[in-house]
Amino acid sequence: MHKVFYGALVSPRTLSALTVSPSALLCVSHTSGDIEWIEHDVHPSALRGVLANHGLQLDDIEFTELKHGEFLMPGFIDTHLHPCQVPNAGSGQEHELLDWLKHYTFPLEAKFKDDDFAKRVYSPVVRRIVDAGTTTCCYFGSQQLGANKVLADLVHDIGQRAFVGKCNMNREAPDYYVEPSTAHSVEATHQLIHYIRGLTPRPESALVQPILTPRFAISCTPDLLQSLGELALADPSLTIQTHLSENASEIAYTKELFKDHIPPPADGKEITYAGVYDAYHLLRENTVLAHAVHLEDEEIELLHRRKAGVSHCPTSNFNLRSGCAKIGVLLDRGIKVGLGTDVSGGFSLSMLTAVQHASVASKLATLHHPCPSADSFASRHLGIPTLLYLATQGGADVCNIPRRTGSLDPGKAFDALLVSVCDTAGNPGLWGSDFDLEELEAMLERFLFCGDDRNIRRVYVQGKFIGGKESRP
Ligand code: GUN
Ligand code: FE
Repeated sequence: MHKVFYGALVSPRTLSALTVSPSALLCVSHTSGDIEWIEHDVHPSALRGVLANHGLQLDDIEFTELKHGEFLMPGFIDTHLHPCQVPNAGSGQEHELLDWLKHYTFPLEAKFKDDDFAKRVYSPVVRRIVDAGTTTCCYFGSQQLGANKVLADLVHDIGQRAFVGKCNMNREAPDYYVEPSTAHSVEATHQLIHYIRGLTPRPESALVQPILTPRFAISCTPDLLQSLGELALADPSLTIQTHLSENASEIAYTKELFKDHIPPPADGKEITYAGVYDAYHLLRENTVLAHAVHLEDEEIELLHRRKAGVSHCPTSNFNLRSGCAKIGVLLDRGIKVGLGTDVSGGFSLSMLTAVQHASVASKLATLHHPCPSADSFASRHLGIPTLLYLATQGGADVCNIPRRTGSLDPGKAFDALLVSVCDTAGNPGLWGSDFDLEELEAMLERFLFCGDDRNIRRVYVQGKFIGGKESRP
């Protein structure tokens, strides 16, 4: 049966404009789970007629009429999250990156050598992420093959769209949590890719995809990066994720470790962090670079040339005192940007928190630095259309699946949220009776800044109802 929704809809259109449609009719194909068609401004009296024009009758469809105070929007795309760090969320906040990894992160991730531990942690974690409205997630897994198979199975069973990667790290970590050799790291990576592609009969269109995951340059020897780059060159469809330019000490140490291993820039300047990844062929259209807080001008140009995308993780950037990324500058340069929760550098699994902190970060970045051109993203804080774009379509752009998901448009997968800003009795005004629910855009803004998972009634991926408040007992 086709699923047809009738009611309000919001969707990103560009970085600065969104579609706001108060009475839309949206049809999801029962075979593909894709959005078949959308009609806007449908008056209730015209409903049957519009359906009939599409060869449908009310009796033959699964029909959902949205109430006043409800709307459909595309699901969130979390471009950077460490599921193996969720038990640490909210702790270790006294440290900056490198000490935080040593004292908090590596000891926890090491526990994932036990598949049962992985199952116990991952099962509620994936459920919580889905219920928080994340329909696509880039999972930055731990280093152990077994735990990542457990994760891929769970994500596959729930039906979330995701990239699952086993992190590569063969140095600069304690003995109890370092891969014994380059060969071991590469072999386990091959095995996970093979395992994930074996989960469905048609791996190219599967919801769960493998992703190459060098932790960061510091934790990979040059020959490991070389091998991963060769693997990537042999498989252009393979998405890549890593960290870039997050913290000042990290950047200095990266340059120190690689300055004698990659060719220096022709202009005689010192090597750059992004230049390290580029030297090993790891920067390309489907590379997701988390953080990018302290990019040099040359690095911005390099990312632009390679069409690589940035995962902006403002909660984590604040929490680990990494810095305040100048996202407006990247947007002005035409670099693809999505949002990431980066748990447990970030302390919240909800993309709503990432949206809120992206707004605050953009206000901070523009507070004392007025930019000459008032039209630029760099000159002012990010508005609601931009924040919505970054949390949805921007993520799809960064993951290089812009035509599959990220907005509610015909031909794309129905990866969507049914959001309700009504209270539990169904009355509008969860946030007080003076809130004007007539304004759909105001409703979206209030949801983005004051909402939580109680407002996410249903979560759909590829047309399938997989989570949200209504799925809980
Ligand atoms: N850089 C290398 N590993 C990590 C990690 O686990 N989290 C963050 N935020 N940065 C990293
Ligand atoms: Fe991270």
